[in-house]
Amino acid sequence: MSVELVDVAGLDLEAEADRVSARIDDFFTSLLQPPGDSRDQLYAAMRHAAIGGGKRLRPLLTLAAARLFGIDEDQALRIAAAIEAIHVYSLIHDDLPSMDDDDLRRGKPTVHKAFSEATAVLAGDSLHALAFEILAHEATHRDPHVRSELVLELSRASGPNGMAGGQMMDLAAEGQPLDLDAVTRLQQLKTGALIEYAVEAPCIVTRLARDARTPYRGYARNIGLAFQITDDLIDFAGDEAAAGKRTGKDAGKGKATFVSLVGPDRARQQARVLVEQAIDHLSDHGEEADMLRAIARFAIERDR
Ligand code: IPE
Ligand code: IPE
Ligand code: MG
Ligand code: MG
Ligand code: MG
Repeated sequence: MSVELVDVAGLDLEAEADRVSARIDDFFTSLLQPPGDSRDQLYAAMRHAAIGGGKRLRPLLTLAAARLFGIDEDQALRIAAAIEAIHVYSLIHDDLPSMDDDDLRRGKPTVHKAFSEATAVLAGDSLHALAFEILAHEATHRDPHVRSELVLELSRASGPNGMAGGQMMDLAAEGQPLDLDAVTRLQQLKTGALIEYAVEAPCIVTRLARDARTPYRGYARNIGLAFQITDDLIDFAGDEAAAGKRTGKDAGKGKATFVSLVGPDRARQQARVLVEQAIDHLSDHGEEADMLRAIARFAIERDR
């Protein structure tokens, strides 16, 4: 994959990204076995969207934070897969004709193109439900209180006060003169909330006290914003083949983004500042947090 090699003290983000991607692929491959009846197309659509491709940024974050806290990787992987299931569902619905009307995703036809619009709606619905089924299962954590908090916070990150609410604001941003504060709020909900959850979930599992979570929340919040600014920069000037999705769509729709408001140079500069701030939040940690630092840099140093 095209993750830039970051080699800090033997740290290889590219190898880690490949390893995490393979584990997520394996998880979805065994979870999404076709049942051999009239639902097979639904399963095929979910597999099409969930397996292969994608940077797996959120799983990388969850597994890196989990390792920092000494959490068992198989449990962390279930949480990472649940987050990725929500993310993939959000992409399937984001691409629908009634939303962004896109035909290319992760270098492949979007689900409604490869299957049908109705199948795409149901594949999204199913991945959404599966995410919570994965979290609520006792294999994720033996303590039901921990599982309940994992479910509660993922619900918040996905719903009207999180991703779905941000998507609504994003639709309203087409042709509307939003200011920087409004765009920041929109992006924090649309993209930030789920990225923040990817780091919050390991804090929940390790039962970190509320105030001890502050630096990790600060880290994730900064990455979420920097990541979406970079997504908008890729849309503005990125290469479609590298990105694996159509570019130039935001400007075409007159959508207010960081890039439309301040221009690409200042947007890029802002993303860099946010990543430095993210890394500053980890200052109490030594090299055990180097993977989280490398992921922060990768959030903006990418072409897809
Ligand atoms: C794209 O997300 C949509 C946003 C929320 C910015 P990603 O850039 O993480 O997409 P994949 O998972 O790598 O395809
Ligand atoms: C989508 O944002 C964010 C989601 C919650 C899916 P975009 O519409 O900018 O994402 P891309 O550019 O299509 O990946
Ligand atoms: Mg969109
Ligand atoms: Mg889109
Ligand atoms: Mg985009």
